[in-house]
This record gives sequence, C-alpha cells and structure tokens, in this order.
Amino acid sequence: MTDTGATADSFSLDGEDLPFMPGDTVLQAATRVGRYIPHLCWNPDFAPHGSCRVCSVKANGRAGAACTLRASPGLDVQSNTDEMNGHRKTLLQMLFVEGNHFCPSCEKSGNCLLQATAYEVGMEGPHFEEFYPTRPVDASHPDILLDFNRCILCELCVRASRDVDGKDVFAIGGHGIGTHLLVNSESGRLADTPMALTDRAAQVCPVGVILPKRRGFAVPIGQRRFDILPVSEQAEGGSP
Ligand code: SF4
Ligand code: FES
Repeated sequence: MTDTGATADSFSLDGEDLPFMPGDTVLQAATRVGRYIPHLCWNPDFAPHGSCRVCSVKANGRAGAACTLRASPGLDVQSNTDEMNGHRKTLLQMLFVEGNHFCPSCEKSGNCLLQATAYEVGMEGPHFEEFYPTRPVDASHPDILLDFNRCILCELCVRASRDVDGKDVFAIGGHGIGTHLLVNSESGRLADTPMALTDRAAQVCPVGVILPKRRGFAVPIGQRRFDILPVSEQAEGGSP
C-alpha cells in the first residue's frame, strides 16, 4: 500500500492524498477536488445508483463501485490503472454493441457521456459483435423525441421524473438482456404522459435518448462540450 501520509479526513486515490467530508463516497470526494473517475449512471444531483460499474475501483485491494463506496480514513483506492481501465473499456464495448449507437449521426455526439468516456479509456472499436436490436423511436410527444436505441439503463430519467418532477413518467422493465426503458402510460407513448420539456427528466439523459424536437445539431462540431475539453478534465465542480 502506498504511504500517502493520510490523515483522519483523507484517503488515497492513485497514490494522491485527497480530503473527504463525512458521508462522502469516493466518487463524490474525488469529483469535488477535480479528480476524474469514469462513470455513467452517477450524477451529483441524485443518489447513487451503482448499476453501470464503469466507476469500479480497487479499494484496499477489493473491487467496488466508487459511486457507492464510502470514503474512509486511509482507504487506498486504485482507479487509473491498466486493469481498471481495461474493465471499463470492456463494459463500454458491451454497452455499445447492446444498443444502436451510431455516433456520427447522433445529435448528442460531442455532448454524450458514453461517447466521451469511450474516448477517455481508449476504446477504438466495439470488439464484440453488434446486436443491432430493433427499437422504434417514440415521436408522439409534441416537444420531445425518445430514441430508445441509445438507452444505457442508467435510470437517471426514472429518478428525475419521480423524485424531482413528481411525475413518474419512466420505468425500467424486463429482465437480463430484455431489460428496457418503459414509458408509464396506458398506451406506452410519451404523448400520453404529463411530461414537459422543462422537466428535469428531459435534461438529465447522459446519452441521446431524450431529445428536444426542432433543435437538432444546434451546437456546431468543434464547440460541443467534449470537443472543448475531454471528460477527464471536466470533473471539478460537478459531474460531466
Ligand atoms: Fe438513462 Fe437516458 Fe436511458 Fe433514461 S433514457 S435510463 S437517462 S440512458
Ligand atoms: Fe458508479 Fe455507474 S457510476 S456504478
């Protein structure tokens, strides 16, 4: 174990001594001081979900999710290692082949956490065979398009709609490989829910599922969020 000179309020991340506040998770504490740990289903405005496992680290030699793991004095966390980044790359490749992610034609390109994280860990191709599932889009809502092809099942929209908007528009259904995003209305169509473009749920999707209509490709290539700085340099002060 690296000697970091850790104090009662600090833990070690890749050999660097970092402070934490009571109740902090490793990912919260790291993000507060601008240290990046790759993640997808975590957003600082919501309770951790712990489902994507992209934030997996080794803590005192044991694997755990940095978004749910509590920071504790002297904890020795290894994150930016070939082993952990290799695991992350495999998880990302599995996500890419499980859905239909055609980045060049997606209007979330350059502003997508899945794409930016894949760049960050050096993913150069899908590695696995693509599933190419058939998932129709839902264009029923006057202001919002749903493209289910890109859903990574992070449940951020579920949490935002339920806990912030008080509307419960989304749910996750099915099991295993059949797990999928559901719209909570009798018809299953977004138009038959109370969802509005101003809802938190309409803003929270880290990929390109929940999109505003009539606003396609509004930010030119070169000026999109992750064109300007890689995801690893946008950790400070919040979640990329
Ligand atoms: Fe996550 Fe977006 Fe899928 Fe909702 S639609 S579960 S926010 S990826
Ligand atoms: Fe921690 Fe998804 S960010 S499990």
